[in-house]
Amino acid sequence: MNNKIPKTGLSQEELFNEMDNSMLSDIDWKSGKTFGAVYYPGEKYSKAISNAYTKFMHENAFDPQLFSSILTMENEVVQQTASLFCSRKKVFGNITSGGTESIFLSVLSARNWSLKHKNIKKPEIILSSSAHPAFLKAMNFLNVKPIIIPTKKDFHLDFGAFEKSINNNTILIIGSAPAYPTGMMDPIDKLSKLALENNLLLHVDACIGGFLLSHLKKCNYEIPVFDFGLDGVSSLSVDLHKYAYAPKGSSVLLYRNDELRKQQFSVYPNWEGGIYGSTSFLGTKPGGIVAATWFALNHIGEDGYLELTQKTMSATKIIYDFIKKSEELNIIGNPIMSLLAFTSKIYNIYHIADELSHLGWYIGRLQNPRGIHLVVSQIHADGAAEKFIVDLQSVLISMKRFKIKNQISNAADSVAISALKKTGYNRIKKTILDKSNSNKKSKKRLIYDLKSDLKFEESDDLFRSILSRYY
Ligand SMILES: Cc1ncc(COP(=O)(O)O)c(C=O)c1O
Repeated sequence: MNNKIPKTGLSQEELFNEMDNSMLSDIDWKSGKTFGAVYYPGEKYSKAISNAYTKFMHENAFDPQLFSSILTMENEVVQQTASLFCSRKKVFGNITSGGTESIFLSVLSARNWSLKHKNIKKPEIILSSSAHPAFLKAMNFLNVKPIIIPTKKDFHLDFGAFEKSINNNTILIIGSAPAYPTGMMDPIDKLSKLALENNLLLHVDACIGGFLLSHLKKCNYEIPVFDFGLDGVSSLSVDLHKYAYAPKGSSVLLYRNDELRKQQFSVYPNWEGGIYGSTSFLGTKPGGIVAATWFALNHIGEDGYLELTQKTMSATKIIYDFIKKSEELNIIGNPIMSLLAFTSKIYNIYHIADELSHLGWYIGRLQNPRGIHLVVSQIHADGAAEKFIVDLQSVLISMKRFKIKNQISNAADSVAISALKKTGYNRIKKTILDKSNSNKKSKKRLIYDLKSDLKFEESDDLFRSILSRYY
């Protein structure tokens, strides 16, 4: 590692070579090896979008009076996005740096609005256990109490428990369209009625799904209404760095009215440095991302998005059909789009996940229930979905062939884990941290097994330490 800035700058050639070399050890995402984290529109669009980014790379989108070009683009992106979610009404919004910032601001707005208009000083928000952790993160920062309602046995949001949890401190209820873990839609229509009946705000987290769902509707898929067409929806977040294929750092947060949006703004009219005002969490805001997002929407266009949507769904179908037909695997829940979760009644699903990781696939792991999680996108339509099911099949065959051997090895692992558990938390932590440094094929399933018996504070400390190890 070079720990000092070189005295004399290195040549472009040298640095690009170094970057290319370091990328050789990265996952091969361009051939669709990542199920999540990367959303790539393909060479056809990518180069032009990156040119748009660099064109505005040095401009600052913080001050609306500074670059009218960027202001126009931001307003167009917001209105073009809004047109997918509310044909009838004008809504208000801004570009943010991603789903987490949009969610943070929706919580901030609800908190400030409820203090101003309802004098609620100890705010609570009701959300399902399937809602994205960005909400808990926001509530932690903003001192709002989360009321987490576990999903029902069939993985649906527990509407009855939502109703029962409402009290005088409730400011906001949350629904996902769809929820990340199972890709299932929450009943936004029922939540909307509940919000109206109880004079509450309702945020729809359409971060991952909103853009794709609105295009699926245009492809005649049956998609329940989840947007401002429902009178109780007060805000909605949709990430454009996911299925709108903008570069990373792009989301839109929309509100039903301007009074709600104003609550996310930060203004300090008396600051010594001058009158300060910002629309979102960021101060300096990259002009490049506004430009690249605007360019992506307008360059890919509706026809392009419909094509990318169809590619996404055809790749999803290949994987979904394979799992559905398999006697060893089961789809979890009832996914509405391209998020798939599955488990196995026969094998340890985390063992399957580890084997797939060893074959170079980046996949998610679900807890409660234990499962594998895939985010399928257009990148998987050019052969990756087929390759994935070939690899999945070969993992299943080897699981069957080596069932006894695996059982013995899993039993040995269990004995080792039980022994380690007896040594106490500090020893467990040291062992895991040492292992996370080794180059050996990792068995992530053991971490999940070990974690199951840790106290909350211990897991919390362990995963903070693991994160810290990387930087
Ligand atoms: C439903 C949902 N909400 C919010 C987020 C957070 O988005 P980001 O990672 O862009 O902050 C995600 C990310 O996958 C998501 O799936």
